[in-house]
Amino acid sequence: MQFAKRMEPLKAPLVMEMNIRLARMKAEGREIINLGVGDPDFTPPEHLLQALKDTVGHPNYHHYPSFYPNQPLKDAISNWYKRRFSVDLDPNSEVLPLLGSTDGLFMIHLCLLDPGDLGLVPDPSYPSYEACVKVAGGQVEKVPLLRENDFLPDLDSIPPEMARKAKMIWVNYPNNPTGATATPEFYKKLIAWARAYDVVIVSDNAYSEVYFDNHRPASFLEFPGAKEVGVEFHSLSKSYNCCGWRSGMAVGNKDLLAAMARIKAHSDRGMFYPMQLTSIKALDSPDDFMERRNRTFQERRDLLVEGLNKIGLKVYPPKATFYLWAGVPKGYTSQDFCYKALDQANVWMIPGSVYGNHGEGYLRIAFTHPVEKLAEAIRRLQKFMS
Ligand SMILES: Cc1ncc(COP(=O)(O)O)c(C=O)c1O
Repeated sequence: MQFAKRMEPLKAPLVMEMNIRLARMKAEGREIINLGVGDPDFTPPEHLLQALKDTVGHPNYHHYPSFYPNQPLKDAISNWYKRRFSVDLDPNSEVLPLLGSTDGLFMIHLCLLDPGDLGLVPDPSYPSYEACVKVAGGQVEKVPLLRENDFLPDLDSIPPEMARKAKMIWVNYPNNPTGATATPEFYKKLIAWARAYDVVIVSDNAYSEVYFDNHRPASFLEFPGAKEVGVEFHSLSKSYNCCGWRSGMAVGNKDLLAAMARIKAHSDRGMFYPMQLTSIKALDSPDDFMERRNRTFQERRDLLVEGLNKIGLKVYPPKATFYLWAGVPKGYTSQDFCYKALDQANVWMIPGSVYGNHGEGYLRIAFTHPVEKLAEAIRRLQKFMS
């Protein structure tokens, strides 16, 4: 069988390969602490579990989702954006429900890129951005995210001829994997830059609700002119502790959303109706559980930052996300260090090189475990590193 050329650059994500390997190690009796998991270890709040149970049991809610109006979900998304970010969205043209943000993240490249077209992708970044540019036949140019720039892209260092050629640029704040957040000045500059060079901004805001120290992340759509030049992806996954539900949205530029909707009309049949109703419930309900959840994440973050710095893994406290971006000790590549830590300390962390060349020298640590387990991970790493 001969596969299409577009398959050639597609690598299986390391995370999937590692999940299989970690499961095998567990079956062999090894007790691994997996600090690679980017999925909250909390359950969704009780009222949402109840909403799902109530709706899933309804005998009439199992038809093709297109049988039911999705206007209420679009309204709920628009109202949530207004409440949370003071952003006005026309629910009919500026909101598109998705099967998780991954759904739209894939689709948008098909709308924007012809073969050979340029997509600007941050380095390091969530690996799907690069993969999806390539699947669409696009060409990737990396935009470095460096600590000295607070892991924000230096737009002035993008050569004008490259900027003029680029069709799209990815930005993701709060950022996976670095935990960095964006400033209003950055978003304003980004919008002016995108207008000047006619580049579409694709903002991934999946982590906006996991934040600390009252540092509430913004949406890029809060800034004037954003809707003319881009869209934002959002998701219930991390916000409501429900990564498995596959509920997300794209919001912003109406022409781009209409293009995505045209593809989606063929690539899926919409969101399971009980999931639509539960998503509406989530977006419409008080979210005080998030404050409690974020306080717990903050305790974990603080424990890790103190403990890891003490044992020689240099980390800074992120203002948002549940990730630490730690410096790899001298003498190791990020992959060597992570594999050795797995073999010798039974602790798995993700090598920064998975996220791009500029991720080399770092490793990503997710604090999606209770403090006792994180304290045990620090003890194991201390023994391994001494
Ligand atoms: C930066 C980023 N964007 C998007 C996603 C995908 O999220 P969803 O569950 O909404 O598809 C993830 C998942 O880990 C992520 O880290």
